[in-house]
Amino acid sequence: MKKRRSGAPLLFLLLLVLLLFSELTIQQQQQQQPLSSPAEFVALLRLRSSLGIRSREWPIKADPCSLWQGVKCENGSVAGINISGFRRTRVGRENPQFSVDALPNFTLLTSFNASSFSLPGQIPNWFGQRLGSLQVLDLRSCGIIGIVPPSLGNLTNLTSLYLADNRLNGSIPSSFASLKNLSTLDISSNSLSGPIPPGIGNLSGLQHLNLSGNKLSGSLPGQLGDLGNLVNLDLSFNDLSGSVPSNLRGLRSLQRMLLGNNLLSGPLPDDLFSNIGQLQVVVLRNNSFSGSVPGLLWSVPGLVLLDISSNNFTGLLPDTGSNHTAAVLNISQNMFYGNLTQLLKGFSLIDLSENYFEGKIPDLAGTNLSLGNNCLQNVSDQRTAGECTSFYAERGLVFDNFGQPPETGKKSNRKLIILVGVLGGLGLVAFLSLALLFICIRKRGSTNQRAVVAGPASASGTPLPSGTSVDFSNIGDAYTYQQLLQATNEFNDSNLIKHGHSGDLFRGILDGGIPVVIKKVDLRSIRKEVYPVELDFFSKVSHGRFVPFLGHCLESENEKFLVYKYMPNEDLASSLFRKTSSEDDTLQSLDWIKRLKIAVGAAEGLSYLHHECSPPLVHRDVQASSILLDDKYEVRLGSLTEVSAQGDTHQSRISRLLRLQQFFYSKLCI
Ligand SMILES: *[C@@H]1O[C@H](CO)[C@@H](O)[C@H](O)[C@H]1NC(C)=O
Ligand SMILES: *[C@@H]1O[C@H](CO)[C@@H](O)[C@H](O)[C@H]1NC(C)=O
Ligand SMILES: *[C@@H]1O[C@H](CO)[C@@H](O)[C@H](O)[C@H]1NC(C)=O
Ligand SMILES: *[C@@H]1O[C@H](CO)[C@@H](O)[C@H](O)[C@H]1NC(C)=O
Ligand SMILES: *[C@@H]1O[C@H](CO)[C@@H](O)[C@H](O)[C@H]1NC(C)=O
Ligand SMILES: *[C@@H]1O[C@H](CO)[C@@H](O)[C@H](O)[C@H]1NC(C)=O
Ligand SMILES: *[C@@H]1O[C@H](CO)[C@@H](O)[C@H](O)[C@H]1NC(C)=O
Ligand SMILES: *[C@@H]1O[C@H](CO)[C@@H](O)[C@H](O)[C@H]1NC(C)=O
Ligand SMILES: *[C@@H]1O[C@H](CO)[C@@H](O)[C@H](O)[C@H]1NC(C)=O
Ligand SMILES: *[C@@H]1O[C@H](CO)[C@@H](O)[C@H](O)[C@H]1NC(C)=O
Ligand SMILES: *[C@@H]1O[C@H](CO)[C@@H](O)[C@H](O)[C@H]1NC(C)=O
Ligand SMILES: *[C@@H]1O[C@H](CO)[C@@H](O)[C@H](O)[C@H]1NC(C)=O
Repeated sequence: MKKRRSGAPLLFLLLLVLLLFSELTIQQQQQQQPLSSPAEFVALLRLRSSLGIRSREWPIKADPCSLWQGVKCENGSVAGINISGFRRTRVGRENPQFSVDALPNFTLLTSFNASSFSLPGQIPNWFGQRLGSLQVLDLRSCGIIGIVPPSLGNLTNLTSLYLADNRLNGSIPSSFASLKNLSTLDISSNSLSGPIPPGIGNLSGLQHLNLSGNKLSGSLPGQLGDLGNLVNLDLSFNDLSGSVPSNLRGLRSLQRMLLGNNLLSGPLPDDLFSNIGQLQVVVLRNNSFSGSVPGLLWSVPGLVLLDISSNNFTGLLPDTGSNHTAAVLNISQNMFYGNLTQLLKGFSLIDLSENYFEGKIPDLAGTNLSLGNNCLQNVSDQRTAGECTSFYAERGLVFDNFGQPPETGKKSNRKLIILVGVLGGLGLVAFLSLALLFICIRKRGSTNQRAVVAGPASASGTPLPSGTSVDFSNIGDAYTYQQLLQATNEFNDSNLIKHGHSGDLFRGILDGGIPVVIKKVDLRSIRKEVYPVELDFFSKVSHGRFVPFLGHCLESENEKFLVYKYMPNEDLASSLFRKTSSEDDTLQSLDWIKRLKIAVGAAEGLSYLHHECSPPLVHRDVQASSILLDDKYEVRLGSLTEVSAQGDTHQSRISRLLRLQQFFYSKLCI
């Protein structure tokens, strides 16, 4: 270096100029006075050493007010300390601590910024009591652990408090309600739990509230609606639940409402957006909101991003134009339906996927559209006709069937139709019960033909495949309502057999003394597809092992009736579990032979459904069709299906049945 200097007068000159220049700037800074308090100088040195701050930033021989980076003085006193992003000395790095004991000695300190400076440890309790002059405290990304000390509530001069991106746990102290001068509160990305203190609503000057990325639970306090100056509200990525209180309509300055990724539910209050005219960003994604979207939200003029995806919102899109340009709309993964409307014209990026929109795509030139998994015409990756039909039917609407005329009675292309049956809910038990009835009938010597009856058990409300139309006139007899009233003594309660999933079952006697079971399907309380599916079933299949279907009465709009032959004994479940009683022995505990016959009968019925009738039928209600024997054994329909399904020889089928029956026997017959 020396060699060069002596040999290079030009460089020397340059250095001189540089020196003069820095002298000049120092003089400028010194105009605001050097540090005047020796006590504060000592305190600065203590801080410098306890935090391990390098000479590069805080050169020990220079005046702190003029030459220490990040130290700001006023009238010779330290007013601000900014060690943000500093690196510690090697020694300081070895055992970094949250040791800032010298801070209280700066009596006029208004700002302490240590963001991204490593302070592993807890916020000292005395912070709140002894740093009362602080207006800005920034401890973002400092590796702080432990709780937020409630004493911070004493820092009533604070205007900005940043504690984000640490490892704070415990709850948000309710004492924060006293921080009346606060305009920014950011405690995001910690592990805070518990509720949002309602007192936050008292912080009337608050403009930025960010509590996102914690584990906060409980509901949104209505008091938040008092924050009339709030511009940014970010409560996303917590465990907040309950609905959005309509008080939040008081957030009249709000521009960004971020409530995504919580457990919020219920409909949004209709008037929620009545005062919030400044909104630019609304993110409610990944909650469980339901109901329709308040009309006002669609038409907020300054909207830039509206993301309400992954909820249970439903309803039609309003058919009004909107005024958003370059705005993003994500309403995917909800239950919106109906036509796409003018509304979409205002957005440049739109995700509508995984809803139930139908109809044609309007002309939306220049818009980036995602449309997958809807019910739209002439678009790929849409839902099946079945899904769409049943969604619309559940709402009492008719699906446009992708613009195709409804198919009539053709469904040979469908491999499976799903079976909804006679004795709702009891599943396999019901299925087997009818087989039992046969046996009992036969026992009484009334007949000796194979007339085992197996009624298809009910799947609860399985949809009618699209395009199905049922020619009712072919199916059994048509009875008048009057006939059925007479038969059941006006559906007297004493004739009620049971409340089924898909309708109530009454016993009755028709003119001529024919005993029947009448199923009353109330369309107001069940899904409308149930009874046509059942009728359709009986129009397509006929087999000796099904309960004989006699007819129907479809006169009334809301109540439909299906009439079956009456099987005099109770259901199989009671019979299987009944012990022989010597007095009342009209129905005795089933012996092994009968149980075998039941199984064979059920297997034949199932085999027919699965293999012989066309199209094959599948019984879907697996849960209902399981018999729980005890906590170890469960016999599912599947077991029986297997018996009949594998192309066995008659011999092996029987032997498997025998084993099944032994199992029944040992489990059920004491
Ligand atoms: C710093 O403050 C503490 C407690 O307030 C006091 O005991 C100590 O004397 C002060 N240090 C100086 C150098 O004034
Ligand atoms: C600094 O001193 C000037 C005059 O001496 C005074 O007007 C001003 O209020 C002081 N500032 C503070 C922060 O004490
Ligand atoms: C704080 O210090 C950092 C690093 O020296 C600097 O980049 C930043 O501008 C300072 N911030 C303020 C508010 O003074
Ligand atoms: C603290 O310093 C960082 C880094 O310079 C800066 O980004 C931040 O705005 C400062 N905090 C406050 C409250 O000014
Ligand atoms: C707030 O600041 C003012 C002026 O700096 C000071 O007089 C007052 O004591 C401070 N408040 C608290 C609670 O320390
Ligand atoms: C505030 O300070 C007072 C006295 O310094 C103390 O009694 C009180 O508990 C403090 N408040 C909180 C919330 O710590
Ligand atoms: C805090 O608020 C009080 C009144 O509400 C006000 O007098 C004071 O100046 C404010 N302090 C700061 C630092 O803004
Ligand atoms: C906070 O975390 C520490 C460990 O980091 C744990 O000991 C303490 O119990 C936790 N406190 C709360 C309130 O969860
Ligand atoms: C908050 O405000 C309510 C009324 O607006 C008042 O009753 C309550 O005491 C206040 N809480 C605090 C901590 O100031
Ligand atoms: C939507 O509602 C259905 C039942 O109505 C529920 O099963 C589903 O989990 C809900 N989805 C969301 C995202 O909340
Ligand atoms: C769209 O904005 C223009 C001006 O920006 C306004 O005149 C017009 O009324 C707005 N239209 C709607 C539908 O809000
Ligand atoms: C959807 O559009 C079709 C044809 O454009 C119309 O017939 C139908 O009524 C519309 N549906 C609704 C719910 O507006």
